Amino acid sequence: MRANLELSGRTVLITGGASGIGRECALALAREGAAIAIADSNERGATETVCEIAALGARAVVASFDVRSPTDTEAAIEAVERDLGPLDGLITAAGISRPAPATDLAAESWEAVIGVNLSGTFYSCQAAGRRMVARGRGAIVTIGSVSSLGGQSGRAHYCASKAGVVGLTRDLAIEWGSRGVRVNCIGPSATDTPMIRRGIPENFVSRVMEDRTPLARLAQPSEVASVCLFLLSDLASFVNGALIMVDGGVSAGFFTRGHGRDFSSQTLLAQGVYSE
Ligand SMILES: NC(=O)c1ccc[n+]([C@@H]2O[C@H](COP(=O)([O-])OP(=O)(O)OC[C@H]3O[C@@H](n4cnc5c(N)ncnc54)[C@H](O)[C@@H]3O)[C@@H](O)[C@H]2O)c1
Repeated sequence: MRANLELSGRTVLITGGASGIGRECALALAREGAAIAIADSNERGATETVCEIAALGARAVVASFDVRSPTDTEAAIEAVERDLGPLDGLITAAGISRPAPATDLAAESWEAVIGVNLSGTFYSCQAAGRRMVARGRGAIVTIGSVSSLGGQSGRAHYCASKAGVVGLTRDLAIEWGSRGVRVNCIGPSATDTPMIRRGIPENFVSRVMEDRTPLARLAQPSEVASVCLFLLSDLASFVNGALIMVDGGVSAGFFTRGHGRDFSSQTLLAQGVYSE
């Protein structure tokens, strides 16, 4: 059975839409008949995604800007609304990750990661959200991470930014909910995108990341996109200020060695240690 998301005719802007999760959200929305603005600092990648969307028969435009600039964001969103009409939805998927031990983390890296992941998310939400609030309708999905909930060695800036995105989401949900705009956050675990493939050795992905995931694999970007589409749709009409984890169960517990079968507990269980 296919749920009717009724997103046809909606207009959605996606930051980070040139690659990975954002790109997959764009293609999924295009298949539902939405019009899409691909907002990304990678103009070539954004243009490629727009061409793929056009091949699906949907409308799409490139909005090339750096989410760290509030003035460029404002100007780009104004131009998008001129081209496509009022925005109904926003997905903030632009993000970077520059792993480094906290002791050596350069101020420039800290500023860049906080600037893109947290400040950039705010500026996009603010520019799109103030228009949605004025019209009394809209839905926003921000992209957090499992790192919104916990630390990850070598990612002080990334974890701080993703925890911040959840705080920001909750604030906006409270400020804008009664004015017709819902704001929710998705927390993916490791997802098979260029960000992961670029930055993390294959044997770490297969031996550590998959091993600590109860569903025993990476997420596919389409599995994150489908939850984004749900949150944009009226099926989620009473969901506001939520953090929805799309993490295969990573955040469900501790000691998830062996695909969630907590190695030592299973061993002790098998030895009858827990029996009365
Ligand atoms: N891939 C994962 O495992 C994973 C897990 C949890 C959360 N996330 C989050 O999901 C989001 C998307 O990640 P992804 O894996 O698809 O990454 P990705 O690298 O494939 O795509 C990120 C996109 O953001 C764009 N971008 C980067 N800086 C920008 C800027 N300053 N202005 C505008 N655009 C900019 C890039 O050009 C790129 O197209 C990020 O926020 C990331 O932190 C990813």
